[in-house]
Amino acid sequence: MKQFQWPESGSVRLRCNNIWQETPDCISFTLTSKDQASTFQFIPGQFVTLGVEIDGSLVHRAYSLSSLPNQTEMQFTVKRVTDGLVSNYLNHHLQIGQEVEVLQPAGQFHIEQPHNNKVLLLSAGCGITPVMSMARTLLADKRDQTDIHFIHAATCAEQIIYHSELLDMKKQHQRFKLDIMLEDATDTEYMEGRLTQATLENYCPDIRQRSAFLCGPVAFMQSMKEYLDALGMDMTQFYQESFTPSEPPQPDNAYSASKADALAQATVFVPSFGTQTQISTGSLLIDALESAKVPVIAACRSGICGSCKCKVTKGEITRTSTEALTEQEIADGFVLACSCQIHSDIEVSLS
Ligand code: FES
Repeated sequence: MKQFQWPESGSVRLRCNNIWQETPDCISFTLTSKDQASTFQFIPGQFVTLGVEIDGSLVHRAYSLSSLPNQTEMQFTVKRVTDGLVSNYLNHHLQIGQEVEVLQPAGQFHIEQPHNNKVLLLSAGCGITPVMSMARTLLADKRDQTDIHFIHAATCAEQIIYHSELLDMKKQHQRFKLDIMLEDATDTEYMEGRLTQATLENYCPDIRQRSAFLCGPVAFMQSMKEYLDALGMDMTQFYQESFTPSEPPQPDNAYSASKADALAQATVFVPSFGTQTQISTGSLLIDALESAKVPVIAACRSGICGSCKCKVTKGEITRTSTEALTEQEIADGFVLACSCQIHSDIEVSLS
């Protein structure tokens, strides 16, 4: 088996190899290389950015991998959601054999972050995907001794993603403890309600000894983080990820009113594309680049995935997120276009 070689930059086209209904609201699918013989390297917990053509435009979104690394297929599980352009397209139109644009795996939410030998994998809904990748990988390694406590919240039994596999994992591995909380637990043995600080403590009395990996909707993650902190968890070994912003970054009207009255419009110049566009000061850089038809990818629009990374070489900007950038990249002037507000004429490089 040879390792799949990702290009330094840009996307590759991978083939959809299999699709199945995971729950009434979710599909799972796999992508493979064209020769179906290359294995994919990534760190469990990471995501990739997928691009599909919808109504003539290439649209990108980031999705966590749920499979193990070093396999010839990468697995994803995607839920259809109201106004979820790409998620709904994948649920309703993706076909076996179809090619999808894929950017290489990325992200800092992964199992190689410092953690001790007891972990708490905590998720809700489709947030299960990256922590499932972690659990599958840890359990597949016979030498690994990590004690895993997997706590998952879902609306009802039929919406539990990977339900039968989770039960099998629990049966087969003593070091895998499973707790599931359902909003509607009718006809199940699971607890009914929402996860609270008390239920977390009850499920996991040794929570203070664990490192935590958390993924789910924003409100769920905010509550869980507060509870874990209140329960005395070491928050230096707490990691989280969500692709759903609580509020999308907004143009900075306060800034433009107070400081940029005299410069209500700014010019965004991208020399490598020869484009120059006018936009109101306080606007987001991603809006300026998209209106100038500069081919920038914005997969999450939340300052998380890093797909919109570019460099501001001249001019004044403010950043609302630098999450996907390294210290060096920040020092070098890189920004996330979706999380960057324009306050003067600027010049941008995409390389
Ligand atoms: S689109 Fe994901 S970081 Fe900007």
